[in-house]
Amino acid sequence: MIIAIANTKGGVGKTTLAVQIAVSRAREGRDVWLIDGDRQGTAAAAIAARAEANRVPGIACAQYPDGPQLRAQVQQQAHKWDDIVIDVGGRDSTALRASLILADVLLVPFAPRSYDVWALDDMATLVDEAHSVRDGLKAYAVLNMADPGERSTDNAEAADAVDEVPQFTYLPTVIRRRKAFSNAGGAGLAVGEITPKDPKAVAELAALIEPIFNCL
Ligand SMILES: Nc1ncnc2c1ncn2[C@@H]1O[C@H](COP(=O)(O)OP(=O)(O)OP(=O)(O)O)[C@@H](O)[C@H]1O
Ligand SMILES: [Mg+2]
Repeated sequence: MIIAIANTKGGVGKTTLAVQIAVSRAREGRDVWLIDGDRQGTAAAAIAARAEANRVPGIACAQYPDGPQLRAQVQQQAHKWDDIVIDVGGRDSTALRASLILADVLLVPFAPRSYDVWALDDMATLVDEAHSVRDGLKAYAVLNMADPGERSTDNAEAADAVDEVPQFTYLPTVIRRRKAFSNAGGAGLAVGEITPKDPKAVAELAALIEPIFNCL
């Protein structure tokens, strides 16, 4: 499956979730290719840190910030991988548009603040454009960096806001703001690989991955 993790809004956790998903799938025995579609190269740097620390499984990672190159490479190499995870930068770019043409699933992380929710409208326009030239792109929105309080009204409001954007299916799982995600992500590790283990972070990640790959 090809999954693109994208949002024109910056800093919403695209790279964090791309690394978590890619490493988790590889730990389940899948052949995973992580593509960093951002010139900043944050995902590639995290995977380099993982390799440096000799962590297994190693993750294959390539950086293609140029859309046409990303598209050509993925089209040529896709058959070799079980999963391809594409992390694209926080703005409208050729890499973002290429990833929407290639992906089976688009995952849009957003944070529980109103301006992030509005950025979903930009993404909805891009999803409409992608649907006009291809079939079969499923688009999911997931709340990331949610208030750790279970009953946060912010979180409930964000869920309601996604309901207003028909292009997206709101994933019932929520990723909360937890140190485990930021600590693990920078080192190219899944939350299940760091100590001390944060069981809540591990459970949230598993609950995110399950419906995406089993086609909710
Ligand atoms: N669930 C989370 N809990 C705690 N920290 C998080 C979480 N998700 C992301 N972060 C932190 O928030 C910051 C931004 O995350 P990240 O770099 O993944 O966002 P991004 O959308 O990829 O940004 P950019 O648009 O610059 O590519 C990072 O410092 C990251 O560690
Ligand atoms: Mg990023």
